[in-house]
Amino acid sequence: MQLLTEIARVRQFVGENRRQGKSIGFVPTMGYLHEGHLELMRQARRQCDVVIISIFVNPLQFGPSEDFNRYPRDLERDLKLAATVPVDAVFYPEAAEMYPPGYSTHVDVTGLTDCLCGRSRPGHFRGVATVVTKLFNIVQPDRAYFGQKDAQQVLVIRRLVEDLNLPLEIVTVPTVREADGLAMSSRNVYLSPPERAAAPVIYQSLLNARDAVRQGEKNVTRLEELVQRQISSAPGAQIDYCEIRALPNLERIQQISGPALLAVAVRFGQTRLIDNIVLEG
Ligand code: PAJ
Repeated sequence: MQLLTEIARVRQFVGENRRQGKSIGFVPTMGYLHEGHLELMRQARRQCDVVIISIFVNPLQFGPSEDFNRYPRDLERDLKLAATVPVDAVFYPEAAEMYPPGYSTHVDVTGLTDCLCGRSRPGHFRGVATVVTKLFNIVQPDRAYFGQKDAQQVLVIRRLVEDLNLPLEIVTVPTVREADGLAMSSRNVYLSPPERAAAPVIYQSLLNARDAVRQGEKNVTRLEELVQRQISSAPGAQIDYCEIRALPNLERIQQISGPALLAVAVRFGQTRLIDNIVLEG
C-alpha cells in the first residue's frame, strides 16, 4: 500500500495503472476510519482493479464555529485499517497541497443545498463539492463510492457529476450501523457514555416512521411529529432538523406518494449526529 502526499505522485500512480488497462475505484474520506468507510472500500475492491482512498480533513467544509480543529485524526490507525481491505494507495495531502496560496475557485451546487444540512451548515456543501471535484480531477477514477449515511451529500455529488459532465460513476453504499442501530460516524467518539446510550433513539425513531408509513400514514407533518416526539424524549437530545423531502430533488411535500427521504440532525451536547431513511410511497 502506497502513501502519497503529493498530487503529482497520485497522477503518476494512476497513470501507470491506467496504461495497464486497470480500472480505478476511489473512496474519499476525512479519516478516523470505521466500518462504514471500510465497507465503501470493500465494495470498491470488489468492483475495481485498483483502489485509492483519500484522507483529508477538508477545512473548506467546516464553518468557523465547527469542529475542524478537534475533528479526530489518527493516520497510523487509519493506514492499518485500510491495509486490511486492502487498498492500493492512500492520498494524504496537506491543506497547502490542496489549497495553495491564491486558491480562489469553488464549486457551488444550488437548490439541493438550500435545505437540511445545507441550511444548518452554510458553506458546507460548497466546501464538499469543491474538494470532491478537485479529488476527482486528481484521481480520475472510474467509480467513486459514497455512503447513504450522508444522503444529501450523495445527491449533491450526483448532481455535480451530471452538471459538470464528469466521466465517472457514483456508487452509493448503504449505511453501516452499530449493533444498537446507531449509524457509524467518526464523530461518535465525542459522545459521553450517557449520550452514547441515548443516541440509538435516532434510528429507532426512523424505523418507527417507516412502520407508520407501511401502516398507511402518508401525512408528512404527522410523520415528522412522530419522529420529533420520540427523539425529544431522549435525555440530552436537541433536534437540529427533522424533515421528510421528496427524492431525488429534496422538494418539500405534504404526502408520501413516491420515494422520500426522512433526514434528521440531532445534537447531543457538542456533538451533531445525522441519520436518514428512505420511505417508499
Ligand atoms: P467522511 O465523513 O469521512 O465520510 C467518508 C465517506 O464515508 C462518505 O461517503 C460517507 O457517507 C461514508 N460514511 C460515513 N459513515 C458511514 C456509515 N456509517 N455507513 C456508510 N458510509 C458511511 O463525507 C466525508 O467524509 C467528506 O464530506 C468527504 C466526502 C470526504 C469530502 O471531504
